[in-house]
Amino acid sequence: MTDQAPAAATESPDIPGKPTSASRTTLSHIMTHNDTNLLGTVHGGVIMKLVDDAAGAVAGRHSGGPAVTASMDEMAFLEPVRVGDLVHVKAQVNWTGRTSMEVGVRVLAERWNESTPATQVGSAYLVFAAVDADGKPRRVPQVIPETERDRRRYQEAQIRRAHRLARRRAIMELREKRAAEGFED
Ligand SMILES: CC(C)(COP(=O)(O)OP(=O)(O)OC[C@H]1O[C@@H](n2cnc3c(N)ncnc32)[C@H](O)[C@@H]1OP(=O)(O)O)[C@@H](O)C(=O)NCCC(=O)NCCS
Repeated sequence: MTDQAPAAATESPDIPGKPTSASRTTLSHIMTHNDTNLLGTVHGGVIMKLVDDAAGAVAGRHSGGPAVTASMDEMAFLEPVRVGDLVHVKAQVNWTGRTSMEVGVRVLAERWNESTPATQVGSAYLVFAAVDADGKPRRVPQVIPETERDRRRYQEAQIRRAHRLARRRAIMELREKRAAEGFED
C-alpha cells in the first residue's frame, strides 16, 4: 500500500517518525481595513501570507528546525474574506520526502456579522524544505498519518509530488531540446 507506509527510498531509519497531530497548527487572525483590496474585500496576498506563515510553523515543528518554502501550488480562493472576519488557517503535514514536506492548508472564515459556522474560503498546498545552518537541505522525520483523512491526504500528496516532478522533467527536456536546436530565449 502506498497510502500508509512512506516509500522505502525516502525513509530516514535513524530519525523517528512523527504523527501528523504533533505539528498540526491553526493560526487565527481578525481581518482589518489594512488588509483590503480596491473592492473592499481582503487582498489575496494577505491570505497567502497567513497560509505561508501557518505552513511554515507546521514545517518547522515537524522537522524540528528551520524550513523554507520551496513551492506553493493550487492556492484556491473559494469565497471572499471581509473586514471583521475571524480567519482560521489550519495546516498539517500531508507527506514527507527525504528533506521536503508537503503541507496542506485550509482557510476558514467566521463572519463577524453572521452566526453561521465557519466557511471554507481557501486552500493551498506548499512544499517546504528543511534546511541546516548553511541553508542546505537536511533530512526530515517521516510523517505518520493517523486517521483515514490523513491517509487520503498522504495519497493525494503523492499524486501531486509525481505531477510536480513530471512537469519539471518535461520542461527541462523541452528546454534542452530547444537549446540543441539552436533556439535562444
Ligand atoms: C528549497 C531549496 C532549499 C532546495 O535546495 P536544492 O539545493 O535545490 O535541494 P534539492 O534539489 O535537494 O531539494 C531539496 C528538497 O526540496 C524539494 N524541492 C526543491 N525544489 C522544489 C520545488 N520547486 N517544488 C517542490 N519541491 C522542491 C526536492 O524535491 C527535495 O525534496 P526531497 O529531498 O524530499 O526529495 C532551495 O532551492 C532554496 O533555498 N530556495 C529558497 C527558499 C526560500 O528562500 N524560500 C522563501 C521564499 S523568499
